[in-house]
Amino acid sequence: MLRTVILAAARSSRVERLVETAPFTRDVVRRFVAGTTNDDALRVTRQLVDDGLAVSLDHLGEDTVTPEQATAVRDAYLNLLTDLSGAGLTPPAEVSVKLSALGQKFDEQLAYEHARAICAAAAEAGTTVTLDMEDHTTTDSTLDILVKLRSDHPSTGAVLQAYLRRTEADCRELAGAGSRVRLCKGAYKEPESVAFQSAQDVDKSYVRCMNILLSGEGYPMLATHDPRLIAIGEDRARWFDRTPAEFEFQLLYGVRPEEQSRLVSEGYTVRVYVPYGTDWYGYLMRRLAERPANVAFFARALVGRR
Ligand code: FDA
Repeated sequence: MLRTVILAAARSSRVERLVETAPFTRDVVRRFVAGTTNDDALRVTRQLVDDGLAVSLDHLGEDTVTPEQATAVRDAYLNLLTDLSGAGLTPPAEVSVKLSALGQKFDEQLAYEHARAICAAAAEAGTTVTLDMEDHTTTDSTLDILVKLRSDHPSTGAVLQAYLRRTEADCRELAGAGSRVRLCKGAYKEPESVAFQSAQDVDKSYVRCMNILLSGEGYPMLATHDPRLIAIGEDRARWFDRTPAEFEFQLLYGVRPEEQSRLVSEGYTVRVYVPYGTDWYGYLMRRLAERPANVAFFARALVGRR
């Protein structure tokens, strides 16, 4: 129920204005977002890389509505990749891209062309790109664009969401050699017709998908903070004889940092997803929707008792 309310608020421009202008917001945002500028992104990336973590940087923004906005997002990624490469932070840092930020909702071809330019810049910088996955109405389009991008840039990564009923089949499609797949639970409000609704069904689907990816020939990226799923991931990786170079765990910036360090100390490859930029509202609201404790944190900040 709370999740539904928060995800509805994520789409409300009135609530967005209220949250963005509230005095407490800065501290809450700082927990989950690296900052607003490339310098902020580079500073946080450097700290994480020095601590033995890999990074995926997300220039915040989604639901772009004009070609000019889409071009600005593309250019932001091109600048970021130049800066990361100049700072010697590639390959440990890659980038995550939302196709909706590149214009997917109004011009799929434009989004593809911008994504291709970002993939080319990433290759030039010695790193790669992962395409974030958004709500289920975009899944087919995103996977179509992925296939086209992979013909020139085979290491381009996909994200599959365990809550979608279709995802086991998508995992089978994408478990081949050279394929990089991030498996997450899924962060959007989806109808029962396309998505499992109970946490238990989502978790079971996650395990089935994980088995397909870990037993396949690609490079699985297990994105979850769930202690049970991480433990199962560790176990299944051993079962399928995966060395730490043959799969990775991924967690979000600001979420369970002690677990991130533990996994690194156990010898696993761990990538932290680091969002940065001014357009943080939708991202923050999805993080709040995931966990009641995050809402409590937000509420305490609201009344000035952080
Ligand atoms: P869930 O939220 O169910 O939490 C399970 C358990 O994990 C909790 O009970 C608790 O024990 C622990 N936990 C979770 N949050 C915690 C916290 N803040 N502090 C302490 N413990 C905590 N989604 C999407 O739709 N498209 C995408 O492209 C991506 N990309 C992506 C990248 C990466 C690297 C990650 C980690 C996640 C995504 N996601 C995503 C988000 C994903 O779909 C999902 O919404 C969140 O990861 C939350 O799901 P969990 O698997 O963490 O479990």
